[in-house]
Amino acid sequence: MTSTTDAGHASFTLERFAQHSFYHEVNKRLVALTQLAKAQRVVDLGAGTGAVTKLIAQEVANQNAEVIAVEPCETALEIARRNLEEFGGAVVRFIQGGAEILSQLVKKPVDAVFFCNAIHLVEEKDLVLREILETLGEDGTFSFNTSFYDGAEPPEAELFYRRWMMKALRVLKKEYGLSPDKTRVEARHRLTEDEYIALLESNGFKVRDKEVVTVQVPLSGFEAISEYSLWIEGVLPGVPLAAGAHALAEAARLTFEDLGITESPRNWLLVVADRA
Ligand SMILES: C[S@@+](CC[C@H](N)C(=O)[O-])C[C@H]1O[C@@H](n2cnc3c(N)ncnc32)[C@H](O)[C@@H]1O
Repeated sequence: MTSTTDAGHASFTLERFAQHSFYHEVNKRLVALTQLAKAQRVVDLGAGTGAVTKLIAQEVANQNAEVIAVEPCETALEIARRNLEEFGGAVVRFIQGGAEILSQLVKKPVDAVFFCNAIHLVEEKDLVLREILETLGEDGTFSFNTSFYDGAEPPEAELFYRRWMMKALRVLKKEYGLSPDKTRVEARHRLTEDEYIALLESNGFKVRDKEVVTVQVPLSGFEAISEYSLWIEGVLPGVPLAAGAHALAEAARLTFEDLGITESPRNWLLVVADRA
């Protein structure tokens, strides 16, 4: 987690990507599926800059409800704090820390835990699920969504992703004389939908609801994700963030132009689970 707490990442946040309507749609759908009617205490794990924290706080808005945003990256947490400053509904608290020690960070049982667009970043998924289970009260629910699973790229979008990455490597070489560090190429294994379900079931959860939502991502969405540190580090390991961001955004524009497209589809997996 050291890289996400690096102050040098200040301008490479998810902020611009998180403002897109398709992103709002997949997060809002997960909050609706969770049915928070009776929830009083909710954790937004990996809260980032607070896009989902706000949706949750709006859903449970009453002065007795408490939403706890937990996030390891100081920079992101600071932006979340700013983004939610004006929010007058539920009480929102902010805690710096990672999912691996959730039960130490949040000691009183909660009604729901959300982990949005982040579970794929966690290496010790069994440990994190055990931590979430421990933090949940008896009727608690755990909800997550991800667009980084095996199946996120629909077959009709494969050509786009292949060309985007090839062009990014070309721009990087031509304009900066750089190449990604092959020894650090992303080893992270992307789980399938079934593997996620099995993981939940083997850690004390029972899946209550599951959906795959396909969204259409416009060029501005790809330009925005190109400036996000975790995305740049994942696809172009070892490359300085500014160079990586420029190469990815430029390559996205060239690929859209090449293929004559105005958007490209992407799947989001949404899962809501109860205690087994
Ligand atoms: C793509 S952002 C998603 C932010 C927010 N949940 C949303 O959906 O907009 C992923 C977030 O997960 C956080 N993260 C990464 N590893 C984590 C971990 N082990 N525990 C908790 N959060 C983590 C990152 O710092 C980042 O803010």
